[in-house]
Amino acid sequence: MKDPFSLEAKYYDKIWGSTRNPELYEEQALFLHRVLEKHEAVRVLDLACGTGGHYLELSKLGYEIVGLDISQAMLERARQKLSEEGLKADFVLSDMKAAYSSLEREKVSLPFDAAICMGYSLAHIPDDRSLEQTLEEVRRILRQDGLLIFLVRNAKHLRDDLMRQVRMETLLNEPGPQLALLCYNYRDDSNPDVLVWNALWLINDHGKTDFQVRTHRLRWFRYGHLKQSLEDHNISVISTYGDALGQEGFQEDVHDSMLMVCRKR
Ligand SMILES: C[S@@+](CC[C@H](N)C(=O)[O-])C[C@H]1O[C@@H](n2cnc3c(N)ncnc32)[C@H](O)[C@@H]1O
Repeated sequence: MKDPFSLEAKYYDKIWGSTRNPELYEEQALFLHRVLEKHEAVRVLDLACGTGGHYLELSKLGYEIVGLDISQAMLERARQKLSEEGLKADFVLSDMKAAYSSLEREKVSLPFDAAICMGYSLAHIPDDRSLEQTLEEVRRILRQDGLLIFLVRNAKHLRDDLMRQVRMETLLNEPGPQLALLCYNYRDDSNPDVLVWNALWLINDHGKTDFQVRTHRLRWFRYGHLKQSLEDHNISVISTYGDALGQEGFQEDVHDSMLMVCRKR
């Protein structure tokens, strides 16, 4: 199967990831560290780890991490970054909907003390059935009292004024690859909490110009619905924050993001 994230993987760190946002990864890792330490969690599964921004920072803090992602290209980039830092790279190529069986197949020792899913990656789990599947896999991966920590978007804030207009999402005009990312978004007809993100990538990579079009269906979540789905899988919400660094308590009418800290019962 063609890797749907191969283009993103090539430019991810420059546009959204750790080259662009080194402090974000460090600060998020410190937040995670505070929570993990409090719950005596040492072995952590980084679900949809991407190019390994959190993996790298948590490894530096002494955690034993396994990264899982559906994209070979993302994992290759992550491996390269860890090897540059002289850190151990432990990755599994898998859809998170099949995380448990993939980890078993790869003989990764189970269970984990915690699983994280940062960078709004759960947005790629677009319907309830896939969400149920993913939560069931997570439940099986975690030890009793194990933690699940993840960041998602609050569907109450999916605004109509962001839809059906062409927007420049990113412009990277520096030495090295130059990029313009133009987006045209709309709500999915079958689920108004799903944003259909259409992106036109215009690329000038060392004199070679190219363009590519990408579409991703990205789910935003309702707090009450998500909490219930977690409960249905024996996972209780301990705390929810309204920002990516765990500084503000979440208020559904105020915040765009939900950073949720949960525990398997
Ligand atoms: C926005 S990136 C976030 C990466 C990383 N967690 C971070 O915060 O930098 C989303 C990641 O989710 C991965 N992904 C998307 N769907 C997935 C799935 N069904 N199972 C596992 N990984 C998936 C993509 O390959 C990509 O690496």
